[in-house]
Amino acid sequence: MFSEKIQIGLKKQLNRELESSQLYLSMASWVECKHESLEGISNFLYDHSDEERKHMLKLIRYINKRGGYADAFMEKTIIENVSYNSLKELFQKLFEHEKIISEEINSLVELSLQERDYFTYNFLQWYVEEQIEEEALTKMILSKIKLVEKDKAGLYLFDRDIKNFHLNRE
Ligand SMILES: [Fe+2]
Ligand SMILES: [Fe+2]
Repeated sequence: MFSEKIQIGLKKQLNRELESSQLYLSMASWVECKHESLEGISNFLYDHSDEERKHMLKLIRYINKRGGYADAFMEKTIIENVSYNSLKELFQKLFEHEKIISEEINSLVELSLQERDYFTYNFLQWYVEEQIEEEALTKMILSKIKLVEKDKAGLYLFDRDIKNFHLNRE
């Protein structure tokens, strides 16, 4: 049984993934513009934005496969005037954002159990795993940024190494 409640929850989530994708895109563009020498960081953020778009697609395809219709796309996702005082602030925001997404995934898992929709419960496990990885990764990046923020040589190395920090889950 693919209930209305579950469909609404999943549609909300696909919009959250789209929102994450747009947010990381805006962050990537900010870094590329304001810190042009740090292309490792901007590339990482552009890639992360693509990943979030894939998370959205996965939800759309699932909803449609179950006989629903993924028709609810973002009402307003115009992210503009993005500005950060520091890279630390940017990555802090990214980490906080991922924690909010994790809470939303957890609520959806809870809803799938209430509705006894075990297909959706099973589908959502991929997102649960994903959030464990993403929270750990963004927390690690944040702590490294705090370490090197005011050290140009350290930042240079961090920018070089960030391309190796991947989630790589399909
Ligand atoms: Fe995501
Ligand atoms: Fe994410």
